[in-house]
Amino acid sequence: MESYEIFEYDVLVVGAGGAGLRAVIAAREAECTVGVVCKSLLGKAHTVMAEGGVAASLGNMTTNDGQKEPDGWQTHFVDTMKGGAFLNNWRTVEIFAKEAGDRVLELEQYGAVFDRTPEGLIAQRPFGGHKYRRLNHVGDRTGLELIRTLQDKAVGVGMNVHMEVSLTRLLKEGDRVVGAFGYYRETGKLVVFKAKSVVLATGGWGRMFKYTSNSWEGTGDGLMLGYEAGADLLDMEMIQFHPTGMIWPPGMRGILVTEGVRGEGGRLKNNKGERFMFNPEYMPPLYKGQFAETEEEAERWLDDKKNNRRPPELLPRDVVARCIYKEVLAGRGSEHHGVYLDVSHRGADYIKKKLPSMYEQFHALGDIDITKQPMEVYPTIHYVMGGIAADSETCASTVPGLYVAGEVAGGLHGANRLGGNSLSDIIVFGKRAGEGAAAYAKLVSHGTIDDKQTEQELEVLLSPLNATTGENPYEIHQELQETMQKNAMIARTEEALQQALTDVVALQKRAQHIKVSGDRRFNPGWHAARDVRFMLRTSEVIVRCAIERKESRGAQWRLDYPNLDNEVWGKKNLLAKKDGDRVHVFTRPLKELPPELKALFEESK
Ligand code: FUM
Repeated sequence: MESYEIFEYDVLVVGAGGAGLRAVIAAREAECTVGVVCKSLLGKAHTVMAEGGVAASLGNMTTNDGQKEPDGWQTHFVDTMKGGAFLNNWRTVEIFAKEAGDRVLELEQYGAVFDRTPEGLIAQRPFGGHKYRRLNHVGDRTGLELIRTLQDKAVGVGMNVHMEVSLTRLLKEGDRVVGAFGYYRETGKLVVFKAKSVVLATGGWGRMFKYTSNSWEGTGDGLMLGYEAGADLLDMEMIQFHPTGMIWPPGMRGILVTEGVRGEGGRLKNNKGERFMFNPEYMPPLYKGQFAETEEEAERWLDDKKNNRRPPELLPRDVVARCIYKEVLAGRGSEHHGVYLDVSHRGADYIKKKLPSMYEQFHALGDIDITKQPMEVYPTIHYVMGGIAADSETCASTVPGLYVAGEVAGGLHGANRLGGNSLSDIIVFGKRAGEGAAAYAKLVSHGTIDDKQTEQELEVLLSPLNATTGENPYEIHQELQETMQKNAMIARTEEALQQALTDVVALQKRAQHIKVSGDRRFNPGWHAARDVRFMLRTSEVIVRCAIERKESRGAQWRLDYPNLDNEVWGKKNLLAKKDGDRVHVFTRPLKELPPELKALFEESK
């Protein structure tokens, strides 16, 4: 066996986005030694893709008649459960809604500079599915400010950062995780991290779809590290289509157009100039009577922000994405087969102040002036609600020593995530995961690294370099994207999903025989060979779960099962687990809401 470099920490954090950095801070505060591994450079994380704000019910905003919006954790809880179509783990949501405010204020103490109300409080904007203005923001660059702040703080508390390292296997002793194995992307040299506990904070996996807001790192490595180590995966069929991604020019397709545009009054229009979200057929029964039914009514809300009815553009993301899809299908789409998003009526000064990145993005990439012209948008894969199942209190996975936080974890968002809840998720559960992992690390000593495991993984890693003939990993990736985009997209059917499964299984067979040229140094083709195997297994799990869930709920829209089935599917989660070479899909009953939380829904009516 080739030699490898070894590092030893109490807690190893994999991923240096907001969740990972917040876990580092917590583990350092618990006096653990901490190593952080990132696939790319420190600070380059998907956290920055949450642009419009971090959701927390601070209740800072005042209506025109001087009344404070009566927001509180209870309303945030209700909105998040409704938005998630009640598939969420209610205890996780309860913790989240109660702690989000404190975590946001803590960010401020760490040095985050939020936009302000005239009274000097943190300014909050409306977002889809949130009853009150709840998105604490920094223009449309909130995620960037969050990562900057957490990075400063984490550097201050002290951490060892290992950049541009791909981890490809968790190492175990018996049931327990004792470290991780991987390689430096630049040199191909091997590295082992010994750790008493490991926090996975690796974000999501959008790259198996063709059009996504995710950048190249989102290949599902973290998810698969957990899966291969035996962790349970939860709600994997639930993939979020953000309603508004760029659609033109073609090279920019999928890039995020923040929901903040609609939060600031942006109007969705079809090619007839109609604000199609007012179509009564588009209003889900759960939200009937709660949103404006006419443009005049929506304008009234925009003017006074009183507790009256919000514009239907601010329905949850799954709903808005489906409506856009239907408009385009009905032939009412824009020039490039999306719809129009127009915020120009807010005026140039306002737009440049509140949405500076959107202004620059469209100007630089599409030669469009959004202060004068509408944008063209279409749903883009943005987020995954599913992930590794985690204990609500400690973020422990089902594998001893393995903790999860942020997008890689499942359970908080149910069948659909509300915008802005991702940023509060990562600070609430990043902290809890860091604390959980630190507490575990204090109870155990370092395990022993089993060289058989590292040798097996090295064989997988090197086989594409050693092969004399074989498949091209980029071609396999491209074919995977084609089938997932076509067959496991926003509108799903048994037939299309079965086709996706057949394709994925065939691609998996081909991926056993990949060949790449060159050696391990500076070799993106070699990286792609490992990534594509992670993506293929992740896709298989997504598709198998989507086939299994025979109903429409949140992001899972089945044309052949168009209704919610509360009697059967509303009562259980779908889980997946490794069973040798097979993916074992099974169900687990949802825990009943306790009476005091159930009562919140009555009160909110
Ligand atoms: O639209 C956005 O700004 C994205 C926010 C989020 O995903 O939470």
